[in-house]
Amino acid sequence: MTRVITYGTYDLLHQGHINLLKRAKELGDYLIVGVTSDSFDRGRGKLNVRNNVLERVEAVKATGYADEVIIEDYLGQKIDDIQNYDVDIFAIGSDWEGKFDYLSEYCKVVYLPRTEGISSTMLREESQTVYRIGVVGCGRIANRFVPETKVVNGAEVTAVYNPDKAESESFAQQHGLSAYTNYDVFLNDIDLVYVASPHLTHYNYVMKALSAEKHVLCEIPFVLSKEQALELYKLAEERNLVLLEASKTAFCPAFGHIVTLVKSGIIGEVVDVKSSLSKMVPPPTRELDSEQAGGAMNEHGPLTLLAIIKLLGIDWLDVDFHSKMDNGVDIYTKGVINYPHATASFTVGIGVKTEGNLVISGTKGYIYVPAPWWLTSYFEVRYEDQTKNKKYFYSYDGEGLRYEIQEWLSMIVNNRRSCYKLRRRESVVIAEIIEKYRNGENVTEI
Ligand code: CTP
Repeated sequence: MTRVITYGTYDLLHQGHINLLKRAKELGDYLIVGVTSDSFDRGRGKLNVRNNVLERVEAVKATGYADEVIIEDYLGQKIDDIQNYDVDIFAIGSDWEGKFDYLSEYCKVVYLPRTEGISSTMLREESQTVYRIGVVGCGRIANRFVPETKVVNGAEVTAVYNPDKAESESFAQQHGLSAYTNYDVFLNDIDLVYVASPHLTHYNYVMKALSAEKHVLCEIPFVLSKEQALELYKLAEERNLVLLEASKTAFCPAFGHIVTLVKSGIIGEVVDVKSSLSKMVPPPTRELDSEQAGGAMNEHGPLTLLAIIKLLGIDWLDVDFHSKMDNGVDIYTKGVINYPHATASFTVGIGVKTEGNLVISGTKGYIYVPAPWWLTSYFEVRYEDQTKNKKYFYSYDGEGLRYEIQEWLSMIVNNRRSCYKLRRRESVVIAEIIEKYRNGENVTEI
């Protein structure tokens, strides 16, 4: 019996896939089809796949050509599969000509003719409305945001708003956009809003954008009080709009994997989470300006708190803070948050440098994520018995903003108001803890 294997994503299954599967099946007696897992595709930068792995597997089965369907989940798996399934022929479309010659050490490699004029990418592009994104603010993060949108299907940044004409025009020129200094006119000309303006302006811009029926992605810190966060999420819900906090780490594949590993009990019961983030900033800068809600807590509280809230939940008991102040802003803050059965601490610095790692301690072991943990690309699960330790590596593409943009668009396209990667109630708790700090509750100056 001749056993044939072939691989693919098979998104939005089309005639090209069907022809390929038919030809592959005709090469032998038994056809195994490897369908890529969602995380494998994301890991190799394929962010725009529409159907999930179950839908894609069902579609391949429905063609009737596959005798067996398996999931491809890691790099190098093809060699394992060929040996495990005793495969005689590896077949793939001619668009891969030459790329899989290395498999000829294990079996015969056949490149089959590719069907011209059709691909999943083409179908995705054809069926997609392209949303016009307007950027509010022209700072560092906005500059990084625009190029990141180019790798995500379905949206294009077309406009920038800044009340300062010169800034707006220079940003627009740099990125090939239209410049606006009137927010209402700007809102009229776009479909989606990305708010990346100074912290204290977020609330108003988001409120106005939602009132104008626009979906919003808002930079961190989202807003600086629980009340404001609740109000904005309520408004979004009432108007059936997506409002997402751009807490980029929440959407990063490796961080998501840490959360699911922890929830599945790999380190036992979680007893302590320690997260740290420090970025030294030279004056003069808005981070060091109390009038502009500068300070380490406002800057880095959102991400360090995100880790704690994602891992220990929203039912915290009490929090206290210890800050080193300079010119009215905290240049370093350490906070301790207690839970009924766990404790957590975070340290944030803009004028004090500290190790920026994340350590999650449990009753069976711990997870160590080295600095910069918020751009997670590597972490390690460690035990008393070191032979059981395991290291996990991921690719973190570009600036990492593409993951949050992709999530935002997917929520809009699929009419999802809530996202499990960052629940609205989690975002509200982050705003609440920052608000307590700003109100001076349990804050000790050191
Ligand atoms: N294939 C083909 N003819 C096409 C499209 C795909 O023969 N017009 C083949 C590929 O060469 C591969 C298999 O179908 O062997 C699965 O490819 P996949 O990457 O899932 O399909 P694409 O349509 O090329 O997807 P994308 O546009 O996302 O790259």
